[in-house]
Formats: sequence, C-alpha cells, structure tokens
Amino acid sequence: MSQKLWGGRFTQPTDKFVEEFTASIGFEQRLAEYDIRGSQAHAEMLGRQGIISTEDAQQIIDGLDAIRVDIEAGRIEFSVALEDIHMNVEARLTERIGAVGGRLHTGRSRNDQVAVDVRLYLRDEIDTVLDYLDKLEDALLTQAENHLDVIMPGYTHLQTAQPVLYAHHMLAYREMIARDRSRLVDLRRRFNVLPLGAGALAGTTFPIDREWVAQKLGFDGVTRNSLDSVSDRDFAIEFCSFSSILMMHLSRLAEELILWSSADFHFIDLSDAFCTGSSIMPQKKNPDVPELVRGKTGRVYGNLMALLTLMKSLPLAYNKDMQEDKEPLFDTIDTVKGSLKIFADMIAEMRVNAGTMRIAAARGFSTATDVADYCVRKGLPFRQAHEVVGKTVRYCVETGKDIPELSLEEFRTFSELIEADIYDYVTLEASVNARKATGGTAREAVEREIARARGQRQENSSCV
Ligand code: ARG
Repeated sequence: MSQKLWGGRFTQPTDKFVEEFTASIGFEQRLAEYDIRGSQAHAEMLGRQGIISTEDAQQIIDGLDAIRVDIEAGRIEFSVALEDIHMNVEARLTERIGAVGGRLHTGRSRNDQVAVDVRLYLRDEIDTVLDYLDKLEDALLTQAENHLDVIMPGYTHLQTAQPVLYAHHMLAYREMIARDRSRLVDLRRRFNVLPLGAGALAGTTFPIDREWVAQKLGFDGVTRNSLDSVSDRDFAIEFCSFSSILMMHLSRLAEELILWSSADFHFIDLSDAFCTGSSIMPQKKNPDVPELVRGKTGRVYGNLMALLTLMKSLPLAYNKDMQEDKEPLFDTIDTVKGSLKIFADMIAEMRVNAGTMRIAAARGFSTATDVADYCVRKGLPFRQAHEVVGKTVRYCVETGKDIPELSLEEFRTFSELIEADIYDYVTLEASVNARKATGGTAREAVEREIARARGQRQENSSCV
C-alpha cells in the first residue's frame, strides 16, 4: 500500500518533495519497538477503562505483536507517505486487523506518543551506556591494580612536576567516569515519568488511567502538565549534556594516550588491533582509535548545541521543529556507545613501559618539592626552603647532576639543616609514598581508593 502511495505521488513532484522533506520515518525506525510497546499499554488501558471493548483491545495488542515480528524479520517496508513511525505502525495495524485498528488512537495524539516513544528508547539505551561505563571503569581499575609499582612523571603545564603512581593517574580517569555515571543515573531518574495522556496538548476527554500505563511501562510516575509533557525535550538535552562531558573526559584520556604512545614518550603500547599503519611510511603505527574518539567529541558538542538551539524560544506546546531532536540524539547515543566500548577494550589491552616511565619520572628534578618539604620539617619557613631548593636545582642544572646524586657536602652548601637522612626523601618511591593523605599518590592511599572504587562498582551493579 505504501508503495502505491509512493507511486501516486510521482505525478506531483512538489508534493512528493514536501512529503519527503517533512517525513521523519527515514531516521526513526529505531523507535518501532518502543512505539509498539507504548501502543500496547495504551490499548490495554483503553480496554480496562471500558473506553474500547476488551475484545478490540486484545485484537489491537495481538495485531501489534504480529507487526513487531514482521519488523524484526525485515518484512515491513516503511513508507515516506505515512510520514513517521507512529503512522507507519498504525497503518500496518489497520491493514492487518481492519477498522478496529483505528480505535488505537483514541485519547492519544502523536505529540504525547512521540514523547513516550523517545523516553522508552532513551531509557533502554541509557542502560546499555551504563553497562559500557562500568566496563571502562573496570578496565581503568584493572590497569591500576596491575601496575601498583609503576611510577611515572606527574605533570602540570605538561612539565614534569612530581612523581606519581601510574595507578593514581588511571584512577583520576576513574573518578571522571564515576561522576559521569552518577549524572546519567540522575537524569534517567528525572525523565522516567509517563507523558502519555497529555493528548495533543490539553489532555483528553476520555477517562484514561495514566498511572496504570506508567506502571505497565516501567515509569516511576506521570508528568504533571499536559502542555509541558508534549513540549519538553529536557531529557534529550540532558543526555547530550552528559555525553558532552563524558566525551570531554574521553578526549583528555585520548590525548594522553596519543602522546604516551609516541616514540618520544614511549610510555605505553596500544595493541595493534587499535592502530593502523601508514600507506607511505612503513614504520608508522598510528593511534587511530584515540584520535577518532578525540575527534568525535566535536560532533557530540555540536549535537548538544543543535538541541539547545532547536528548543530556544519555541512557544508552547508541540512544534514541528521538535522533530529535529531525533538525529542529534540518536547520533549522540551511537557515538557515545561506540567510543565507550572501544575505549574499554583498548585500555584493557594497553601495555605499560614501566622503565621508560620511571626514567622520565626521575628527570626534571621531580623530587625538588620533597627537599623543600624536608627543610620545612627541619624548621625553615616554606618560602626560604623554596629558595634553597631553587638554588640547589640551578646548581644541578649547571653541573649536570640530579638531586639524589648530590653529595651531603654539596647539599649542605645550600642549607646547614640538610643531613644524611635527606637521601631517604629524594627517591621516587619516597616521594610518592610520602603523600599518604586521602586522595594522594602514596601506594597505600591508592590501594585504599582502588578498594573503595571496587566496592562502589559492586553496589552499582547490584542496584541498576
Ligand atoms: N514525527 C513527529 C516528531 O518527531 C511526531 C509528532 C508529530 N506530531 C504532529 N502533530 N505532527 O516530532
């Protein structure tokens, strides 16, 4: 039937173009399952409330089941003439069960229908994203657990600052992912309310039972204002906002992995499976995966801007503009899922060059602060200690020596307070392990945080 409608339109080229221009079926087929689920709950409620007969309701529910099977088997050709997923499904239903199919839309509008479809869809996708976030968190934690002995340079301004545990560095990203997760759980809870029942904008004259439908579809409650129900797209914006922050985090990790896998750093090796070669330079192994994730961050930011701009200044209630919400949202979901999945796998397989990291950590007088702290503990005010060590470092630069290589006599030319025990404080291990307070890089502090993170991870998987 849709094919014939198509054919008919070919004699009127302008109309056909308008039809194509306004149709959303081209990009919303992924909503089919949710459209059917929502319709079945609505039909059952109509039957229970005596708005339609229970026989009609059952016929509609069975008919929709059959359409679901057909769609899954690829037996349905969606029609542009039928505009969107809602009318495509409804037309199939009427084709299959006859005029009774036309009773499904009682007390409902496409405006509240699309709002419920997208929420159901997004809810499912969020559960997948949560799963991927957990996998990435696991990969970061495993990297930390497996490399508790590895010391690397910690940077500020990308200049060597103080030595840190590589595990500590991995845990920093774990913190970001944990915050992302909590944002996602939070926004999921906020939008998990049923908008169906708002009708086109003002509600419906039929004695519907919204609370029953909400429960049936796994919503925590119902929306409280019909105008807002059909014109609210905050959930899509919040998801894109969550996604933008997440991608920003991934782009930072991506940037570091790209630097670290370069010949100049050589801190890590990415598995061959996540890199490609160059068609001209035989020696090249390019970190394509982190580069692409870094790049894809831009499109996710763009999608957030698109949605914010789309909704800006729209009068209540539904406006056709809002059909433009789907492509940015869908693209964001696909991009975030792909990026998380590939990052989790890549991090799990990443190999660490502990020796190179250690050599780099020792360069750049990374334990200079430890000497200053030492002098402070011997009674020197910090500002003076800073001065003393500044001169010590200048001496090291001039003589080509490193701080731990200085003799006690050399140390003492800068401060009489320095004694033989200074050597207990200027090794990489001593520097790292001195930072024991919560959140510090000492091995014992890092081990505590790993245990805490594992515990939280356990709680998360038992409550979602
Ligand atoms: N395809 C439409 C959308 O995505 C569904 C709602 C259409 N409502 C309407 N009154 N045209 O926004």
